[in-house]
Amino acid sequence: MNSRYFAGVVVVLFSFLALCKSDTPANCTYGDSVGTWVLHLGVDGMTKKVDCSKNFKITNNYTVHLLFPDKAVDAAGNVGFWTMVYNQGFEIVLAGRKYFAFSKYVKHGSKVTSMCDQTQLGWAHSTDNSNWQCYYATKMHPSGTEIRTHDLREQIVLQEFQKHRKYIPNKDYINQINSAQSLWTATEYPEYEDFTLAELNMRSGRPTVPKSFAGPRLRMKRDRLSRNSDEFIYFPKQFDWRNVSNVNYVSPVRNQGACGSCYAFSSMAMYEARLRVLSKNSVKRVMSPQDVVSCSEYAQGCAGGFPYLIAGKYGEDFGLVEESCFPYNGKDEPCKETKSKCRRHSTTNYYYVGGFYGACNEYLMMRELVKNGPISISFEVYGDFKHYKGGIYQHTGLGDSYNPWQITNHAVLLVGYGTDQKSGKDYWIVKNSWGTKWGENGFFRILRGVDECSIENEAVAVTPVD
Ligand SMILES: *[C@@H]1O[C@H](CO)[C@@H](O)[C@H](O)[C@H]1NC(C)=O
Ligand SMILES: *[C@@H]1O[C@H](CO)[C@@H](O)[C@H](O)[C@H]1NC(C)=O
Ligand SMILES: *[C@@H]1O[C@H](CO)[C@@H](O)[C@H](O)[C@H]1NC(C)=O
Repeated sequence: MNSRYFAGVVVVLFSFLALCKSDTPANCTYGDSVGTWVLHLGVDGMTKKVDCSKNFKITNNYTVHLLFPDKAVDAAGNVGFWTMVYNQGFEIVLAGRKYFAFSKYVKHGSKVTSMCDQTQLGWAHSTDNSNWQCYYATKMHPSGTEIRTHDLREQIVLQEFQKHRKYIPNKDYINQINSAQSLWTATEYPEYEDFTLAELNMRSGRPTVPKSFAGPRLRMKRDRLSRNSDEFIYFPKQFDWRNVSNVNYVSPVRNQGACGSCYAFSSMAMYEARLRVLSKNSVKRVMSPQDVVSCSEYAQGCAGGFPYLIAGKYGEDFGLVEESCFPYNGKDEPCKETKSKCRRHSTTNYYYVGGFYGACNEYLMMRELVKNGPISISFEVYGDFKHYKGGIYQHTGLGDSYNPWQITNHAVLLVGYGTDQKSGKDYWIVKNSWGTKWGENGFFRILRGVDECSIENEAVAVTPVD
């Protein structure tokens, strides 16, 4: 049984490499995850160097109940926490240990079957980061709806087409956007002509998941009433970590190139800025996204990943290294021996703003931002956004049907907010990773308070330790 499981994992990994993009193609929901799970635990007492793809043997079974929305309970009466990580899997913190594994899936040709009643082999360890072991989980009494097949043929055909097609400028499209509205301006970026469409899509994130599907979508999400709370009224009307009493706490804008590493850039940018905030701007590090792309098993290299698992879990479990240790080259190159050579800097206390994935809103984001520093956020990138030059972005809907783009989900860094004098519109100020020539010197503003392009959905916070 185990060896069959293993063969499955290997096949999955190989076929995944052939599919050029997306995180893991598993597509699991809260509904799939709520219920009773058996965690099949391997040999414990290992170090973080444990290779969970080798020699796995069940030594113990541990039954855990996952309750909606975020409570985990075991038979001994321990009460802990769990969260979905987007549609990719779930993390459990219970009885002094943390468990994370990606959900299981299999690929046959263009068909992906998400097996959301099982996980792949993942990692368990004490909350103090010792005593590692491998595990995988199976759901007890699955309803059958946890297993779903999704045909990726259309997506693969589109990706093939995009791989062989250079970007072609389209003045009409730019003019259309600019005459349809006055909140923001679009421009043609000449450097896009160096990219294929596939590369441009890669740069802007992972394919999106329908809103109704990924998270619990709590009612409090868009609750404008929270704007009337006392705390909110006394909040600063505007805030910008680039200029707090004339001090800039935000590290320089970078360029991720044609690699789907936005999640690594967003994660490093959060660490860098929050370290500046904590050190009163005396420690200004630039961290290495390449180390994440090449070395982290919690992400899929240039094919995507999640700030929760990188700024958060990878930062806490393994630590981050500085740019000089492993300079960025924007490719899936092998992990160099940076682990021993360079000092690793850790993070701690990572969480989704609101407590768990799906509980985020504008107000909670503002509070987290002002109190603790810039936060990692994600939003949906449509074709028009790629041409943003300045102003307050709001999706126009233009070109969605004829433009050969994919809607993607892109991770960036929230650094501030404000209200526009002229239009009266509330906005967020966000740091992108497409270089300084893009947008407003590498930054953009986007409508605030209306979950524009799902930007008030998936905010992640961490605390740098050293
Ligand atoms: C995830 O599943 C939903 C519902 O079945 C489907 O609409 C969506 O296209 C899937 N997304 C991906 C990326 O497979
Ligand atoms: C754990 O569960 C598996 C699968 O249900 C079973 O084969 C195995 O015997 C159990 N192992 C222990 C140590 O309880
Ligand atoms: C920072 O903000 C203050 C107050 O709005 C302004 O006077 C100052 O010029 C700003 N500094 C920078 C470096 O932009």
